[in-house]
Amino acid sequence: MRGKIVTDSLGQARQLGQCLARGGEGEIYALRGRADVIVKWYYPEVLDKRGAALHRKVEAMRELRDTHTTRDVCWPLIRVFDHEQRWIGFAMYRARGVKMGCLAHSLLYARHFPDLDRRQIVGYLLRFIEIVQQLHGDGICIGDYNLNNVFCVPGSDSVTLIDCDSYQLRVGGTFYPCPVGSPDMTPKEHQGKAFRDIVRTPRSEAFSLAIVLFKCLMLGRHPYDIVGGGDPVRNLRRGHFAYGRGQRGVPQGDWYALWQALPEAIQEHFVTTFTEGADQPARRTTLAQWQAALSAYGERLDRGECPRELAGAGRTPAGRTRHVR
Ligand SMILES: Nc1ncnc2c1ncn2[C@@H]1O[C@H](COP(=O)(O)OP(=O)(O)OP(=O)(O)O)[C@@H](O)[C@H]1O
Ligand SMILES: [Mg+2]
Repeated sequence: MRGKIVTDSLGQARQLGQCLARGGEGEIYALRGRADVIVKWYYPEVLDKRGAALHRKVEAMRELRDTHTTRDVCWPLIRVFDHEQRWIGFAMYRARGVKMGCLAHSLLYARHFPDLDRRQIVGYLLRFIEIVQQLHGDGICIGDYNLNNVFCVPGSDSVTLIDCDSYQLRVGGTFYPCPVGSPDMTPKEHQGKAFRDIVRTPRSEAFSLAIVLFKCLMLGRHPYDIVGGGDPVRNLRRGHFAYGRGQRGVPQGDWYALWQALPEAIQEHFVTTFTEGADQPARRTTLAQWQAALSAYGERLDRGECPRELAGAGRTPAGRTRHVR
């Protein structure tokens, strides 16, 4: 078993608590005496292979940190070394809340987010967009959009991002790519390439972000899931969005009801982004446009002009969905 004592940037010995989670690249440990701080310890094989490059990137990130990256994003704050003084990772704040993947889920949301309604979903999404806009303002791209890297506190609109060591950034003339991603969250122009060779842009980010928005407002449904149709990545590459104009292939029943409950302006942004925008990045709704559209939607929900409740939504078993003509 690995030693549980690490040394921080100041050369002070610190004791790790239990292992809280395991990711693809490392383990997350509690830090004794600091319930609000955790340590990411990269796996030995990751350190052997890419340790020097990872260390340089994390150091560059530490240089960039400021108030918003410290609290809204779990940014690397403190270097951590093992008992032989080798760099093994970093300490960061611990995110509070529940993963957005549990919110964007037709069965799980009720357990993790009691009383969730559309107003709350819009509140989380507005906060999420605000944080991403702040990052973009600093020249940082998320790249690897993943609902499990967004923590939401039930009953509030608090949102915190994790897993930021994969972000794309530029510091002092050096470019640090986002080397990971998943095809079903990646726009067409970046499909089929090694993630480490991709340069993410505000337009590519807008596409991936729109998928996050859609999945939350549609309780987990992927925009390119078409009942009886091809797989989402194939549909994404072709711009086959079932909810598009003409509405061919929209899953019937509760999914359709969720879509119908959205104001026309929001529907239009999705349709444009996922049809013309699949091929033409300039057609995608920008973050500022989403911010405006969702703020307006939030105000309409506050005034009682749109349905707030999700009741009954998304409970149709997958096998019972039908095509619409
Ligand atoms: N700051 C944090 N606050 C709370 N939990 C965290 C934090 N960072 C990581 N975790 C937990 O640890 C898990 C793994 O962390 P992380 O995603 O950073 O690891 P990774 O090795 O980069 O994984 P991946 O291969 O998915 O990118 C997360 O899914 C989450 O459950
Ligand atoms: Mg990661």
